[in-house]
Amino acid sequence: MTARIIDGKGIAQDVRNEVRKAIDGMVGRGLRRPGLAVVMVGDNPASQVYVRNKRRSCEECGIVSIAFDLPQSTSETELLAKIDELNADEAVDGILVQLPLPDHIRESAVVERIDPRKDVDGFHPYNVGRLAERNPLIRPCTPYGVVRMLDHIGVSVKGRHCVVVGASNIVGRPMSLELLLMGATTTVTHRFTRDLETHVRMAEVLIVAAGKPGLVPGEWVRDGAVVVDIGINRREDGTLCGDVQFEEASRRAAWITPVPGGVGPMTVAMLMKNTLEASFRRQQTDGR
Ligand code: GUN
Repeated sequence: MTARIIDGKGIAQDVRNEVRKAIDGMVGRGLRRPGLAVVMVGDNPASQVYVRNKRRSCEECGIVSIAFDLPQSTSETELLAKIDELNADEAVDGILVQLPLPDHIRESAVVERIDPRKDVDGFHPYNVGRLAERNPLIRPCTPYGVVRMLDHIGVSVKGRHCVVVGASNIVGRPMSLELLLMGATTTVTHRFTRDLETHVRMAEVLIVAAGKPGLVPGEWVRDGAVVVDIGINRREDGTLCGDVQFEEASRRAAWITPVPGGVGPMTVAMLMKNTLEASFRRQQTDGR
């Protein structure tokens, strides 16, 4: 079998076009343009690339992006004060604090300080709890992007065996909640899992988010599986690769995401969608 490629880049463009159209409609009806505050602390080079993509995407969608580039030396108290200010700012519908943060700032304190209605990353315990309770409000962007990709290729996971490799707060855990929500039989593997290979071999849908290049050899992929590779790793020669060995995996899978051009663009596109929806909800309810 030779896998069909899941064109994340193209699907992300569809999502951005939908967002752009919805925002044009909102503005046409006299509503305010959505505003997204993008906060970055320090100068992590990978984060700089992601933040630049997010700001560029805002421009394309007609979202007002407000940039805050804070120095590495910013204290937790100062960052929390900035979040308080953005929580109170009527023109700000979404607040995104790029992770990881410097070691002297507690990520949990920062995430919990963001007004859950403006938490367009979907990382606040309130939003994670809503997803866990099968009543999602703002959904974490990367898993939500994967849901959209599966829908686009017409794959239903209901009753199927899905295996998630990686249990991070940002990707693996909320991904498993999305899969449960869709009725999948869901296995989550992580760094303490024994015999990863046995689990991976059972996966009808395999979702890998470990951040370890080549962690999953192609031979482990079940024939006809759907493979979603969320890893973005930089090789020594500067090129990007995922966590799955692509060539061999694509000889076995029915569908596979490339890296780059797979899940990466979807994360940013779903952030735009979350910002649009957060803005719409706030304006409909007069900010309350
Ligand atoms: N760092 C890596 N991925 C993400 C993301 O989706 N949102 C934020 N805020 N930081 C990240």
